[in-house]
Amino acid sequence: MKKILFVTSEAHPLIKTGGLADVSGSLVKALAELGEDVRIIMPNYQAIKTTEEVRYISTIYVYNCAVNILETRLPGTEVIVWLVDCPEFFNFPGNPYVDVHGKPWANSAERFTLFCRVAVEVAMNRSYLDWKPDVVHCNDWQSGLVPALLSLEYSRPATVFTIHNMAYQGVFPRSTYQSLNLPGQLWNPNGIEYHDMLSFLKGGLIYSDRITTVSPTYAKEIQTEDFGFGLEGLLSHRKHFLSGIINGIDMDQWNPETDTNITATFNRVTLHKKALNKIALQERLLLPVDKKIPVLGLISRLVEQKGIDLILDCLPEMLEQPLQFVLLGSGNKGYEQQLHNFAESHPDKISITIGYDETLAHLIEAGADIFLMPSRFEPCGLNQIYSQRYGTIPVVRKTGGLADTVVDTLADTLNDNTATGFVFSEASQGALMEAIKRALILYDHPKTWKRLQTNGMRKDFSWAKSAKQYMNLYGHL
Ligand code: ADP
Ligand code: GLC
Repeated sequence: MKKILFVTSEAHPLIKTGGLADVSGSLVKALAELGEDVRIIMPNYQAIKTTEEVRYISTIYVYNCAVNILETRLPGTEVIVWLVDCPEFFNFPGNPYVDVHGKPWANSAERFTLFCRVAVEVAMNRSYLDWKPDVVHCNDWQSGLVPALLSLEYSRPATVFTIHNMAYQGVFPRSTYQSLNLPGQLWNPNGIEYHDMLSFLKGGLIYSDRITTVSPTYAKEIQTEDFGFGLEGLLSHRKHFLSGIINGIDMDQWNPETDTNITATFNRVTLHKKALNKIALQERLLLPVDKKIPVLGLISRLVEQKGIDLILDCLPEMLEQPLQFVLLGSGNKGYEQQLHNFAESHPDKISITIGYDETLAHLIEAGADIFLMPSRFEPCGLNQIYSQRYGTIPVVRKTGGLADTVVDTLADTLNDNTATGFVFSEASQGALMEAIKRALILYDHPKTWKRLQTNGMRKDFSWAKSAKQYMNLYGHL
């Protein structure tokens, strides 16, 4: 059994803005079930929600700042969570990265530097918790300074750094670096300096013993100019320490047989009951109720990564088809406005919900027939996996984890029952529209459609295999 300190800025169900929270919550659960002693450390944001007891366990001092460490459990599990409690940084409404108006926190660098410093104290067993990890597993830029700071320690635990998204790097001006009082040794081009700026992500990529990312295809892509966001050289230099481990999902939470968020539960045998969720979805979103019409769904952060511009380009042509389109998401205000305009002029065909709504997300997965995910890049992606579990056929672009988890529908993949969706390559309106049309044509062939649905529903997307890959990795360190 290994002792693992899992450092993350979000974990479901305590707090979530995206897939990192899903992965943090479900991966640690899987590791704990496999016998690892894994504990989470994360900031104590005001927005954290828990039904479990939270108790004070210690106070430590980092840079003249008194920080309390609180202990709780990941709801519904025995997994210990340590909350870094520093009210002057974290006791504000908003989410981990932006305030209630959607504006990034002006003091993000200070907040996550403090968080990393505390994680290092815990990792070095200097915070009165009487527990020293064998491995510190960090995630994304918010924890990037942990491997960097640990590299300066004698007798330190091993470090793993997982990249969930190369597009977010935590880059700040040199003046911020100077105000943070970070050790001078780290400031060099082979350290956390990036073109005369401070890069948290580089801290993780340079100093960790192993780097992983969340799909094998993305592990290759990020070594190229198109996906490396300026760090492709560094990643290909460290390629022998870099691997891709595909994300699993929480099989209990995203289970159409037991999901309490949906109107009618179903499985492969009772697949006909899926239609009741479609009706409930249409009723809830005030769309004409029609069991026959194909419903296309999309749930996403509305950012460039997700190919929302391609959707906007396709909408006029989609409107010529007999279909309904439902979208749930928030993000870029320009996208939100353009989507709203479409919905206003076609209320019988398009429903746009701006905001964050977990219940509706489950109902869309259960009620839609087709799920759109035309991402320009996608490290792993979870909704295309949830879709397959709910008999909702994904239409995805061939990139990152989408390429690794969806099998395109072709003559041979239909024959051997491996086809689960529709995959297109070029990030263009034409290619996306063609894939949507291919899906719509097959939707009119119920027998074949059902085969696609059951092929996806049969697949094993649990953490079983991937959690063991992480354990192997920890074991080699
Ligand atoms: P990313 O982490 O890049 O946002 P993923 O596909 O890995 O993409 O994970 C996104 C997660 O966030 C999924 O669980 C998805 O259902 C959820 N999600 C995204 N937007 C919303 C929203 N507006 N309301 C509810 N859940 C959302
Ligand atoms: C990131 C990626 C997404 C991935 C998630 C969890 O947010 O954008 O593709 O699924 O992290 O690893």
